[in-house]
Amino acid sequence: MALLTQAPKGTQDLLPRQAAGWQKVEAVLRAQAELRGFGELRTPVFEHTELFQRSVGETTDVVQKEMYTFTDKGGRSVTLRPEGTAGAVRALLEHAAYNEGLPQKYYYFTSCYRYEKPQAGRLREFHQFGVELFGPGEPAADAQVILMGGAIFRALGVKGLSLHLNSIGCPACRAEYHKALHAYFSARAAELCETCRGRLERNPMRILDCKNPDCGRIAAGAPRMTDYLCADCRTHFERVQEYLRAAGMEFTVDPSLVRGLDYYTRTVFEFISTDLGAQSTVLGGGRYDGLVEEMGGKQTPALGFAMGLERLMMVLQAQGVALPGPRPSDVYLACADEEAKACAVRLAEMLCAHGVAADYDACGRSLKAQMKYAGKSGARAVIVLGGDELRTGVVQVKDMATGGQQPAELGAPLDEAKVAALAERLR
Ligand code: HAM
Repeated sequence: MALLTQAPKGTQDLLPRQAAGWQKVEAVLRAQAELRGFGELRTPVFEHTELFQRSVGETTDVVQKEMYTFTDKGGRSVTLRPEGTAGAVRALLEHAAYNEGLPQKYYYFTSCYRYEKPQAGRLREFHQFGVELFGPGEPAADAQVILMGGAIFRALGVKGLSLHLNSIGCPACRAEYHKALHAYFSARAAELCETCRGRLERNPMRILDCKNPDCGRIAAGAPRMTDYLCADCRTHFERVQEYLRAAGMEFTVDPSLVRGLDYYTRTVFEFISTDLGAQSTVLGGGRYDGLVEEMGGKQTPALGFAMGLERLMMVLQAQGVALPGPRPSDVYLACADEEAKACAVRLAEMLCAHGVAADYDACGRSLKAQMKYAGKSGARAVIVLGGDELRTGVVQVKDMATGGQQPAELGAPLDEAKVAALAERLR
């Protein structure tokens, strides 16, 4: 029976009392994205498996260990998206959106799926808010995207996040770096985990973000990409830092930051919180100048980031940022009898049509219990409907905060203009 009453491991429900806070946060994120000219992108929850293999990368943990991949009834291999960037690139290419002119600026809210070992802040189904920019290759765009991340946290009232920044170069300078890494890790191959031994030949950089503690210890002494950057990549990285400094954005250059996905080039960054445990990265992103071409499009510089919404909500909670609960009723219609109930059913709909949140009892509660419920539910006002009210068409509107009562004429039968006047008072 537990299977019937327990969500699958690594997933979670949001009840209305939590979802209201999420909605508030989502509204801030949406507004911040739209302020900067991003439009919403919605892509399917599953894509062809090959899309993620090619973009996220065959040697990443995500592709090697974490994807929810299955064969559909038509014999195709499909995968629940582990992240949002690959689908955004696929959509850009499928709709030839670059023909509308560059830059193309997308934001998205997506559920993502990774078969990871669940722990605080690490789920198998989680949610991301992300942005992707296609077209801008200049370091000013890197600064813009990073500053946007900072502005979002400020707008939400989140404090104390630190920005970690690195450059992982371009394919040209990375080739040299791979040689150096290969030499370093080959000498220590026996101490690496089996997956990393496999990565040694194909993509030694992936060893740098292996979650195995032994690999992590060895990786700590590995050569650093920043020592291998070519002149163009170095200049790009320096300019990004200059722009950030000029904008007053504090950051730490962190040569150990390589990110877990293969498509990145040049700038990579993460916003890290001390309010989370081991899963401390709230937002991660970077440039991926080669991906559009790799997927069959024209060479198009691109960059973006994604933040984990569960982790963001954990930080907000840890920092005591107040978030709203579900909207209480503006007015609760308490009914003395069946005839009054008929009136309440109609009146509630008329009030809702005017944007007033109106509710009534349909659980068969006594009038006393209805009043108690109204108080507990946080309704702002209560109207009791009984024989007198139905006969005279005049009701008493009780303000639940002050306890004061004011009459309101609704007509008998209910009069549209009079109900509209009451709605105006209640809104
Ligand atoms: P990512 O670093 O894999 O990057 O994920 C971004 C964020 O999603 C993380 O910083 C974290 O907050 C959240 N996240 C990742 N995995 C989990 C998990 N298992 N449970 C809960 N939260 C998680 C990307 O996905 C890139 N697509 C970001 C990007 C966009 N880069 C360029 N554009």
